[in-house]
Amino acid sequence: MSPDRRPAWFTALSAVLTEGPPTDRFAALATVDAAGQPRARLVVIRALLADPPRLQFTADLRSAKVAELTAQPRAELCWFAPSRWVQTRLTGAVSVAAAGRQAAWTAMSVETRGQFFGGASGHPLGGPPPLGAPTDAAPPAHFGLLTVLIDAVDVVDLSSGAAQRTRWHLSDAGWSATALNP
Ligand SMILES: Cc1cc2nc3c(=O)[nH]c(=O)nc-3n(C[C@H](O)[C@H](O)[C@H](O)COP(=O)(O)O)c2cc1C
Repeated sequence: MSPDRRPAWFTALSAVLTEGPPTDRFAALATVDAAGQPRARLVVIRALLADPPRLQFTADLRSAKVAELTAQPRAELCWFAPSRWVQTRLTGAVSVAAAGRQAAWTAMSVETRGQFFGGASGHPLGGPPPLGAPTDAAPPAHFGLLTVLIDAVDVVDLSSGAAQRTRWHLSDAGWSATALNP
């Protein structure tokens, strides 16, 4: 994706990550569980990468969300950056990434890393803590970096008062936008 082919949604979200406050990084990740029940929870968007466009977040590989994504590796992220008044829904295929995993660990504060040193996510409180420590240079085995390969985007922009909605679709010809009624 050369700079002039970067869709507007990508440029806008890149600016959110580089210029926005930390609270602009939260997005609701929606999955479907084995019973067909929709499940949603917040994650922190760690990176937005180009060529092809994809998002990354970290998660406990023992968590319910990762089990759901292993069984059904598609998800939607609903990202509302409070400072922009824009809702962006991004859908795509999700995979556990190997490249960038160590860098993601290195970039996290020791305090945030500490979240990976309790018992397994979603299990009854307690349980054996994992080996290692938040100050370790290498992450624990259950530290996961997940990548969402984005193939459709729906933007609702409320920044100017009147809502503007745009659906973005990816085809062999690239990204195309359609204006929708909000
Ligand atoms: C502000 C905020 C940010 C969060 N960021 C993450 C995150 O980046 N990754 C993550 O796995 N969980 C994150 N969580 C916790 C999840 O929302 C969720 O409670 C947890 O991951 C268990 O979800 P699951 O049982 O559906 O797997 C965050 C929670 C809050 C409140």
